[in-house]
Amino acid sequence: MTPSREFRFKYKNLPVFSGKMILNLLNSSTGFFKIDSSLGAKLREISVRILGDSIVFQTENFEIDVSRESISQIVKNPRRIYGLTKSGFLPLVLMDRDNKYYQLTLFEGCLTPTIEISGIHMHRTIVDPLFVDAKQKVLALKPKPKSEVLEICTGLGYSTYWLIRRKCHVISIEKSREVLELASWNPWSRHLKHVEILLGDATKVLQYLPDKRFSYVFHDPPRISIAPELYSSEFYSEIHRVMRPKGILFHYVGEPGKKRGKRYLRGVLRRLESAGFRILRYDARSRGITAVCIKR
Ligand SMILES: C[S@@+](CC[C@H](N)C(=O)[O-])C[C@H]1O[C@@H](n2cnc3c(N)ncnc32)[C@H](O)[C@@H]1O
Repeated sequence: MTPSREFRFKYKNLPVFSGKMILNLLNSSTGFFKIDSSLGAKLREISVRILGDSIVFQTENFEIDVSRESISQIVKNPRRIYGLTKSGFLPLVLMDRDNKYYQLTLFEGCLTPTIEISGIHMHRTIVDPLFVDAKQKVLALKPKPKSEVLEICTGLGYSTYWLIRRKCHVISIEKSREVLELASWNPWSRHLKHVEILLGDATKVLQYLPDKRFSYVFHDPPRISIAPELYSSEFYSEIHRVMRPKGILFHYVGEPGKKRGKRYLRGVLRRLESAGFRILRYDARSRGITAVCIKR
């Protein structure tokens, strides 16, 4: 039995707002307006009527009248994302069996959200992690159209978006059901429905993938202190095994020397080389290494 399951990603297509946007509504005394309910993805607007103590939200599927009091009991964090259902606002926060908490957040000045796992955000909190950061990473790999790419660490699927744009066939591995559940609320992750997602720990899932299958591997792990197993010699050997000769690996490593010592990068390079990769370059824009898979 394989240690993963294919995850059927289904975009929820429900209204979502940042806490800041809802708190701004609470500050208005009266009025009728239309607001974007897709975190700037321009998928839909909904109508809002403010009538003294209650606020009426009219979506294409339902209407809900919520009191200011009940909104202010739920919506407290301006950064957090909240979904709107027929029962009211829902904070997009989940807890797993190990009490790790996951939340979708939109940082001040950012256009696309990130995901936080126990307080650590999984993207750089720059203006637009989807369109700036994820794009640079995929540009560093430059997979050929129609090639098969193994993506390790789906997250919100921002890098997946650019792999799909390059017309690649993507198989993506994500360990956390909670991450994928939150992604299903995120309008900027809706393209994940076009991808084969394997839900499971990549260190185990890879063992079940055939030898020499992929021309490209895109590896975007959390930092080494959180997921050391994704930087280990054993894992690099498994990546090497599933790659075709001359296949290209992109491996996000961050900015060694800034928060982490340069020794950390030397360790990564040494382990990659002994697993059978030849290092091509460190790309400062994407903060990742590219390496070619050598097979004799
Ligand atoms: C930096 S984020 C990936 C961001 C993603 N590339 C994107 O564009 O949104 C890292 C992801 O790796 C996942 N992860 C951590 N350990 C993992 C493992 N052993 N196997 C698979 N996924 C893992 C985390 O749950 C998190 O979603």
